[in-house]
Amino acid sequence: MKLTNFIDGKWQEAGEEKYTAVLNPANGERLAEVRMSTKKEVDLAVAAAVRAQKKWVLVPAPKRADYLYEIGRLMKEKKEHLAQVLTKEMGKVIEEGRGEVQEGIDMAFYMAGEGRRLFGETTPSELADKFAMSVRAPIGVVGLITPWNFPVAIATWKSFPAIVAGNAFIWKPATETPMMAYEMAKIFEEVGLPPGVANVVFGSGSEVGTAMIEHPDVKVISFTGSTETGSKVAELGGRHLKKVSLEMGGKNAVIVMDDADLHLAVEGILWSAFGTAGQRCTACSRVIVHKDVKSELENMLLAQMESLTIGDGLDETVKIGPVINKQALEKIHSYIKIGKEEGAKLLVGGHVLADGDLAKGNYYAPTLFTDVTSNMRIAQEEIFGPVVSLIEVSSLEEAIEVNNGVKFGLSSSIFSRDVNNVFRAQRDLDTGIVYVNAGTTGAEIHLPFGGTKGTGNGHRDSGVAALDVYTEWKSIYVDFSGKLQRAQIDTD
Ligand code: UN1
Repeated sequence: MKLTNFIDGKWQEAGEEKYTAVLNPANGERLAEVRMSTKKEVDLAVAAAVRAQKKWVLVPAPKRADYLYEIGRLMKEKKEHLAQVLTKEMGKVIEEGRGEVQEGIDMAFYMAGEGRRLFGETTPSELADKFAMSVRAPIGVVGLITPWNFPVAIATWKSFPAIVAGNAFIWKPATETPMMAYEMAKIFEEVGLPPGVANVVFGSGSEVGTAMIEHPDVKVISFTGSTETGSKVAELGGRHLKKVSLEMGGKNAVIVMDDADLHLAVEGILWSAFGTAGQRCTACSRVIVHKDVKSELENMLLAQMESLTIGDGLDETVKIGPVINKQALEKIHSYIKIGKEEGAKLLVGGHVLADGDLAKGNYYAPTLFTDVTSNMRIAQEEIFGPVVSLIEVSSLEEAIEVNNGVKFGLSSSIFSRDVNNVFRAQRDLDTGIVYVNAGTTGAEIHLPFGGTKGTGNGHRDSGVAALDVYTEWKSIYVDFSGKLQRAQIDTD
């Protein structure tokens, strides 16, 4: 199957252009070929979006929302199919695939509800016989650049608020996971979104991403991906005066206090560290543990890690799937050497898994380091794989200091039964998301998603906050006094 672009409500013909293979990370199977588009296709898509948006903005928001209700309904109907495709191209286990599709469905219905809200403000005027209000106005054409680790959920976090607010978009999905974008484009087509409102252009970041950022008619770029690429997006976007919303790396920690329910903490750590094979921005990659429970927690983790089944995520009994590709395997593995050289103690894992059928895919053993100190590279840098570092601390204050002592600030978690610990932690943890007695993953779509410091640049996906990315505030004053009234002057 050749995946071609969806532009102006039509599928481009598959021709002799450049295509790249899409591989199943679980077994290397060739799933499809995806078009590597050029600036030419981006220009076509943007021109279509500009035309479409002029009409789309005039459609009442509740009517725009009706399309989202339909999209949500279709996603629900196709949930199992979408989850299967997702697991095949991305690798996460099928249960998580279903969960991710559900996240997209939730987003569709939630943002559809915004069609009847999109609240602005009405306020009194300082002058008599004058009315003052603010409304959310769409920005125009927006560019969406999405990652391979959540190929559908993150795309819905961006495209659905863009749609309901009255924008048109160009979506460039990650080259590793174009099939979900293809499935979503089919849904956009099926619900009859006006041509040009939703466009999907496949290709590389350097070619398609750059062309989107540089295009004068694309007003907003919303990007989720690595901090390295995000910085480039911001730099280029800055030069072109774009509004740029960035969602980037994490180095998330679970804090386990001496009064924690250790069984619960172990479950939370395993789920958030090894779910999606650790390839979440929100993944737990550090465990900051109180010295009094360190060895007990270590032993409990080790015992549980032995029972994690690894393999093709389509197998319902498998708990951990493959990582995305060979480069990811190499990057993850390089950190094992780094950790050992820094003096960390490898307790389990630390190697590629290649027994039997596993050799066909990209599998890495769940890995646990202990005796890690906060300044080590394995405790500072995002590894994006199933690798966890245990760091011992003596107090809550120290735990919080260690948690905050990284350049990222996405998610954090504390396991404690002491209400004072918990409330101090939620105040002092410098991350965009804080969990209490749960791991570092599991964000729900109706709250803002994003982080502080190197994780982002002040914007948020999800929740009403996402609307801030895709709208401009317009303040409107209506003077019905019939005379000139000067603000700040004629107020007596
Ligand atoms: C990501 O890691 O890039 O909270 C997104 C979670 C998911 C979303 C993760 N709902 O882990």
